[in-house]
Amino acid sequence: KETKEQLIIDAGQKHFGTTVCKSCGMIYTASNPEDEMQHVQHHQRFLEGIKYVSWKKERVVAEFWDGKIVLVLPRDPSYALRKVEDVQELVDHELGFQKVVPKCPNKTKTFLFISDEKRVVGCLIAEPIKQAFRVLSEPSGSESSGSKECSRAWQCSNVPEPAICGISRIWVFRLKRRKRIARRLVDTVRNCFMFGCFLSTNEIAFSDPTPDGKLFATKYCNT
Ligand code: ACO
Ligand code: ZN
Repeated sequence: KETKEQLIIDAGQKHFGTTVCKSCGMIYTASNPEDEMQHVQHHQRFLEGIKYVSWKKERVVAEFWDGKIVLVLPRDPSYALRKVEDVQELVDHELGFQKVVPKCPNKTKTFLFISDEKRVVGCLIAEPIKQAFRVLSEPSGSESSGSKECSRAWQCSNVPEPAICGISRIWVFRLKRRKRIARRLVDTVRNCFMFGCFLSTNEIAFSDPTPDGKLFATKYCNT
């Protein structure tokens, strides 16, 4: 009888033993002291990193009922650049990316989605490009193998196509995903990247997309 009850309890939880922190979004095992420690460390650093203290001069490029998008340019005041750097570090850490040095740091445009709770909940880094290679198809067997290394090796065309805007990073805070924040960031980039024109989806390109990024990009470019 006891075992049966235990089974019911276990089945009721999505991931047995794991907790999702309601403020920082980290998934961890609360019963594991090492995990809990890691959470405490991440929690502080993360919430500090995404905290947004209103800037004296901010370039608001879009406003919504649940937040706004602020554009940061390379010659902006150091407090703005520092925030961008902090957020990018958190994003790169989450994605497991090496810190990349942009090819043209003086041409990078960073778009931050600021929530009403004064937090940076979305970030998009865009840079000018001249060409891109279209993703052809998913390599066969990538679903079954399930390995991360494999699923990132999309097959690309070797015929370059002209493009204008490269999206080197797009990220949305885990607890705010699927609320169209990424979509609104890309819409805003298309509108603001080049003065006076709205870029078509063929003129933008996502560099080295993750599985999440590819799902989003595929959906975005087809609607
Ligand atoms: N799975 C399936 N479809 C998805 C997913 C997903 N994980 N994410 C987005 N979509 C599709 C959906 O159709 C969605 O519309 P719906 O919610 O009405 O069905 C549509 O894209 C629009 O999604 P948004 O809500 O605008 O996307 P969101 O704000 O959740 O952000 C993002 C998407 C940025 C990929 C987010 O999941 C994320 O930050 N992931 C972790 C970081 C990452 O992998 N970033 C991409 C790196 S690649 C690069 O930077 C170039
Ligand atoms: Zn937390």
